[in-house]
Amino acid sequence: MSDTVTIKRKRGLDIMKVREDFPILRTTVFGHPLVYLDNAATTQKPLAVLEAQDRYYTTINSNVHRGVHFLSQQATEAYEPGRKKIAAFIHARHTHEIIFTKGTTESINLVASSFGRKFLQKGDAILVTAMEHHSNIVPWQMICEERGALLKVIPVNEKGELVLDELDGLLKERVKLVALNYISNALGTVNPVREVLRAAHGMGIPVLLDAAQAIQHTEIDVQELDVDFLAFSAHKIYGPTGFGVLYGKEEWLNQLPPYQGGGEMIKTVSFEKTVYNDLPYKFEAGTPDMAGSVGLGAALDYIQSLGMDNIRTYEHELMAYALDALRGIDGLRLIGEARERAGVLSFLVGSIHPFDLGEILDKQGIAVRTGHHCAQPIMDQYCIPGTVRASLAFYNTKSEIDALVTGIHKAIQLLG
Ligand code: ALA
Repeated sequence: MSDTVTIKRKRGLDIMKVREDFPILRTTVFGHPLVYLDNAATTQKPLAVLEAQDRYYTTINSNVHRGVHFLSQQATEAYEPGRKKIAAFIHARHTHEIIFTKGTTESINLVASSFGRKFLQKGDAILVTAMEHHSNIVPWQMICEERGALLKVIPVNEKGELVLDELDGLLKERVKLVALNYISNALGTVNPVREVLRAAHGMGIPVLLDAAQAIQHTEIDVQELDVDFLAFSAHKIYGPTGFGVLYGKEEWLNQLPPYQGGGEMIKTVSFEKTVYNDLPYKFEAGTPDMAGSVGLGAALDYIQSLGMDNIRTYEHELMAYALDALRGIDGLRLIGEARERAGVLSFLVGSIHPFDLGEILDKQGIAVRTGHHCAQPIMDQYCIPGTVRASLAFYNTKSEIDALVTGIHKAIQLLG
């Protein structure tokens, strides 16, 4: 580790310096400096990622694994280290437990399809929570329908926290797998995943964690958690879009049938029989996203140079500041008031429609998301069509939160 990096880690983050690593943050929108508070939808990319991908395409690009020629070998050498970096980042026991996918959604679809075809029988159940993103509902619904299984739901209380009193009872209802998010994209709730894992494992039931909103905010150690499957997307952790990861315990991945057929996932093919490849390639049909792996690897290097502990501490402070500031606005109602929360602030202001508030903020250069955030069931529970969502990253500042508060006051003046 370089001296500069060591100094940065000891002293915490120098946010203004960190912001220089993200060229897009210098953008102006409608004459205002961009205030980017839509990080739960996608994060911005540091130069380290942009340059690594550019270098890949300008000097190495070729197809991996199959070629004997120089560039193909260079591409393979650039592509595979990404897998090692990811395995180390989440503390996987084996590199081959890291499957490359298009993102969280494909990772969950892979498990739903493969696990469901192998293990789900008529009358079995999959257990999710009431605060899931559609990506962790619909794939399970689809396979349950196909297999004659049921989708069961862990309820959520008014504060946006899981109600675990009913968990043991629910698990007994022929549940074959539990799938839940670590941090809710709609409410920001940090779920008590250890408790869920303990209860599920106590009955021999595997657990899939949707870590799409957690991987960028908190250290994840899959061995310490003892989680069976974990899914996340590169673009939520400062890496490229269209690339993601499924982690699975070797013993589970070995039992699952392939998800898609095609190149890379085979050892031999004849018209009579195909012999599938070993892990991780068994689940990676087709030409992989080489630049995606390079980009995610660079993003993880970048994050580690800042220090996950520094990121967590700073984001925690920023979240407390933002919560205080928003609570000071008359008529603002936070949607989700969980004790443990990270990354996301969802709210409504008086009777202002979220879309109108979002538009007024946009005109002031403030990017927030409005709507149901692909989590319609939890919006239905609150009897609301959606919220305004401000979501934070470590490059956001307290003055950006102040700008958000000023923007909301302006909207209240205009529409309230
Ligand atoms: N799932 C992403 C979000 O929460 C798109 O905005």
